[in-house]
Amino acid sequence: MRKLIVAGNWKMNTTVPEGVELAKAVVEKSAELPANVSLIIAPPFTHLCPVAEVLKGSKVALSAQNCADQTKGAYTGEVAVDMLKSVCCEYTILGHSERRQYYGETDAKLVEKVKLALAAGLKVILCVGENIDQRNKGEHFQVVREQVENVLFKFTAEDMANVVIAYEPVWAIGTGVTATSEQAEEIHCFIRSIIKEKFGSQVADDMTILYGGSCKPSNAKELFACPDIDGGLIGGAALKADDFIKIALSF
Ligand code: 13P
Repeated sequence: MRKLIVAGNWKMNTTVPEGVELAKAVVEKSAELPANVSLIIAPPFTHLCPVAEVLKGSKVALSAQNCADQTKGAYTGEVAVDMLKSVCCEYTILGHSERRQYYGETDAKLVEKVKLALAAGLKVILCVGENIDQRNKGEHFQVVREQVENVLFKFTAEDMANVVIAYEPVWAIGTGVTATSEQAEEIHCFIRSIIKEKFGSQVADDMTILYGGSCKPSNAKELFACPDIDGGLIGGAALKADDFIKIALSF
């Protein structure tokens, strides 16, 4: 049985006190969740330490939103994987489209980051997804295939036990336009088939693949009912504890 996950990517939102309050509310409401659903929250770097304290002893795991592609040293402004581990991060998101688009994150850099994250004992949530031009030109399968192959094919089947894939079509992120469940399922099934080609059916069956892009309480049920959608990576709706938990109750 693969893991069902609802992860909240807070992006660059909330002050530290606001983030701590939000984390407390999520922990409180997480008691309502069935045991087979895992919750993750990914606050900004500044929040990790105090939020880790809030999450202690709860079933909510902590994630970073990014990590450095170097281990330590003269890299001003960067945060290394060992630093994330030292504040009890269990996961890091990598390759989010906002990092690819605004900060020049390339697949080659992502290979380095995934390598460091896994070596440090962090689990990785790797984001992939096409933009609207690529979708309109019918290139979405090819784009997603390349993103998956360029990064994950550099790793082993054993490594895949610590990798989660998030399919986030860029045109659905923060726009209110969600992919239809058919569009999302089609790509999720395709991603699973790519993983199967390379790593075999067991790894493919066990791989958690999340959907992200305007996922909210009103559409989560339909998306999560699809056979290859194992949960969500939630942006805007993760900033309200009620909505976030409602989404997690949608399996
Ligand atoms: P929204 O849920 O705000 O569309 O963001 C999705 C996302 O980018 C999560 O990483």
